[in-house]
This record gives sequence, structure tokens and C-alpha cells, in this order.
Amino acid sequence: MGSSNRPDSVRVPEVNGQTQVLAVFGYPVEHSLSPTIHNASIAFLGLNYIYIPFSVKPDHLDSAIRIINPLGIRGINLTVPHKERAIACLDWISPEAKAVGAVNTIHPVDGELRGYNTDGEGFLRSLKDTGLSLKGSRVLVLGAGGASRSVVYRLVKEGARVTIANRTVERAEELALRISRILDSDKIDCVRFQDVGKITELMEAAELVVNTTTLGMHPDMDSMPPIPPESFHSGMLAYDLIYNPYETRFLRCAGEAGAKTMNGLEMLIQQGAAAFQIWTQREPSVEAMREAAKRKMSVP
Ligand code: ATR
Repeated sequence: MGSSNRPDSVRVPEVNGQTQVLAVFGYPVEHSLSPTIHNASIAFLGLNYIYIPFSVKPDHLDSAIRIINPLGIRGINLTVPHKERAIACLDWISPEAKAVGAVNTIHPVDGELRGYNTDGEGFLRSLKDTGLSLKGSRVLVLGAGGASRSVVYRLVKEGARVTIANRTVERAEELALRISRILDSDKIDCVRFQDVGKITELMEAAELVVNTTTLGMHPDMDSMPPIPPESFHSGMLAYDLIYNPYETRFLRCAGEAGAKTMNGLEMLIQQGAAAFQIWTQREPSVEAMREAAKRKMSVP
């Protein structure tokens, strides 16, 4: 097709013999926003890199990781369902990735594969402009899965007092024990979702409530974590790690009660920015990443 038929907004990157490859392994990977945000930063900085999605089935993860070095791939992101399994395939794991039991970033250095987890860093950076001071703050974290681990680890490390609420309280207890031991902290408690009285009390005292569960995620948009809607208040920030939909029912309820709200898009961008820095030693354009993600999601 001649270039005169190409819409102005489509930028075809030049790929040549020196182009460096970055990639994400996931299954499914089709809806990942990572190629969008990383290629936006690459284009903004004018780097000769390209970021590609690879649909890697769980059974193929080990062989996919083994081929990173032979192919000279410069950096890899891992997404669902590979973050935990990958640990056994790497040569070195950062203390934070070890603590949360998951890797989302692989950096090949001198033939060695190093594993990091930038989710917690992304979460922390996303809070920077909110004015919230975590040290000594009271935080309620909803959910005790993989996403919760990264968030709880960073919150406790920053000196917050955290309660983990979960449907399966044993899972919350296991997580609390794990992080308490690693960080030598006595600042983590647990509660079951079914204990509405205690949850209401914790909500009233909380400066931050974070939803790490999948409740409310597309296509399950009518769901929300079992929080009494009247317990949101104007003195808190309600943070949902979900970004699709852009405003979950949880955030809508929180906003109606006067709470400040934040969705998971900024954390996604900031964890990507942290990975980009590890791979390229360059400061990414967070603004270009944010703009591209919003354009892709058709949000203003
Ligand atoms: P992720 O890795 O994205 O955090 P996960 O490990 O599957 O995903 O964790 C999902 C979280 O959502 C868990 O806290 C889960 O609660 P359980 O530990 O009790 O399973 C929570 N969750 C998912 N569906 C739920 C539901 N219908 N009601 C309450 N909690 C739910």
C-alpha cells in the first residue's frame, strides 16, 4: 500500500538490523496494554527498540524463557499466568520479587536472567501525587491474591498499618504472616469479608482502601467487594487496581460518598516505567505512556 493511503496517526517504526527487542509473555496476551505504553515511550525517546507481545502457553514458559538469551532479547515482562512459575527459571531474583513470590520483569545481563517485580514500585509511584503520607496511615486492603501481595509488601515497607480483608480469611492470614516475617513487622492484621461490623469500623478509620480483588472487572461490571457503601467517606482515598472498566462500581460508590478515587491505570503505567528503566537505563516518558494508554482505552 502506498504511504499516501496511510492515516496520519499511524506511525510505522523503522525496524532494522540494530533494533533491540523487548517483549511481554502472557496467556492470553491480546488485551495487554504493555506494548502500547512501551512503544509510546520508545517512540517519544527516539530509541531503536520495539516491544512485542508473545502469546506463551503455560506449558511453553520454560522454553520461552530459555530462548531469551539466544535471541538477544533485551527485556521481558511477564503477565498472567506466568509471574509465579517464572521464578524457578531465573538466575537471580530481587529481594522484593522473592518476598512477593512473583516476577513481572526479566532483565538479561551478561548471559544471566535477573527477575524483578515492579508492581509494588508502580503502586507506590502512583500514589505520589495524591498527597497521601503512608507512614503511620491506616490502610484496608481488599483481597489476598497475587496483586495484593505486591501492594501489602510496599505499604508495610513504607510504614503503613495494614488490614487485609478477604473472603477466604486463611489466605489473608497466610499473606500477613509471610510479609510480617520478611519485613519483621507487627503492623498487619486480617479480617474476613463476612465480618461487616469490623469492616465498617476499619473503613471509618482508613485513609486508604485498596481493592485488589477481581470483583468489578470487565465483564463482571455489576460486582464490587462487599463493603457497605455508606462506609466510604471524604477523608479517604479509594483505590481500585482495576482499570477496565475505567470507573468500577467500587469507585463510583466511593466517589458518591465524597471519597477521592483512583483506578489502576497509573499503577500499570508506573510499573511499566520502572521496568523500562531497568532494561534501557533511560528515564521513560511517563506522559507519553499515559497518553497512549488512554487513547487505546478511549478515555478522555
Ligand atoms: P490476582 O493474582 O489478580 O490477585 P487471584 O490470586 O485469583 O488474582 O486473587 C483474586 C482475589 O479476588 C482473591 O482475594 C479472591 O478471594 P479468595 O482468596 O477468597 O478467593 C478475590 N475474589 C475473587 N472472586 C471473589 C468473589 N466472588 N468474592 C469475594 N472475593 C473474590
